[in-house]
Amino acid sequence: MTKSISTTSAAEEQSHEVVYKSWDLLIYEIWVLGIVSTWAWGCSTTKYLLPQFRSNVGKNHLDIGSGTGYYLRKGGISPSTKLTLLDLERPALDVGLKRSGRPDARGILADILKPLPVQDKFDSISMYYLLHCIPATVQQKCNIFSHIKDNMTADGVIHGANVLGKGVRKDNRFAAYVRRCVLKAGIFHNLEDNAYDFEHALRQNFEDVQTWVVGSVFMFRAAKPKL
Ligand SMILES: C[S@@+](CC[C@H](N)C(=O)[O-])C[C@H]1O[C@@H](n2cnc3c(N)ncnc32)[C@H](O)[C@@H]1O
Repeated sequence: MTKSISTTSAAEEQSHEVVYKSWDLLIYEIWVLGIVSTWAWGCSTTKYLLPQFRSNVGKNHLDIGSGTGYYLRKGGISPSTKLTLLDLERPALDVGLKRSGRPDARGILADILKPLPVQDKFDSISMYYLLHCIPATVQQKCNIFSHIKDNMTADGVIHGANVLGKGVRKDNRFAAYVRRCVLKAGIFHNLEDNAYDFEHALRQNFEDVQTWVVGSVFMFRAAKPKL
């Protein structure tokens, strides 16, 4: 089966530097998901993030910012689940599709800050380690939870996690070093990101909201969009 990639003119117009090239994504999986997540951010991928992902995948799933496709390969997604990946960058989308282990997965090239260029209604949507790397204000990031509802079923669930920049525990030395580097390199854009604003936005848009802060990471699960 062939992989389909829908390209939106909005995404094509993007002039952002392509930060996530294929090779970077492979290094990312070992370094960020394996080492940095646990020892800098205090949130083990295998202990916290992967189990949350596994418990919240439905029959028609959208993964936003798939990166290396780590969660798609390890997340125990049933072969009967219809799978769609969305990413801003074509190299990242290509790697995600290739490494998702699902030759029938569909790809959408688009900017999640804008309404989706498709009409589909997903019953589960994931966004892991996405929000902290979007160069936007907290309010613009929070607005995602408002427009994404148009692409969710009535009982749909959205879940994810992102590294906070404000209102969290003091970074250890390793975390402080990594944070300085990723902010300087323009990989993180999360100085103002805080749990209060994200939780508030989720509660405004969903009936059933659960949030946790593990180390410096905001984890969330929200179901039943307020339509
Ligand atoms: C840090 S990676 C996360 C990868 C994966 N979810 C994980 O946790 O391993 C972030 C991904 O989000 C994508 N991304 C960044 N900004 C985006 C945007 N505005 N819309 C859609 N995808 C975006 C990047 O291209 C990249 O693939």
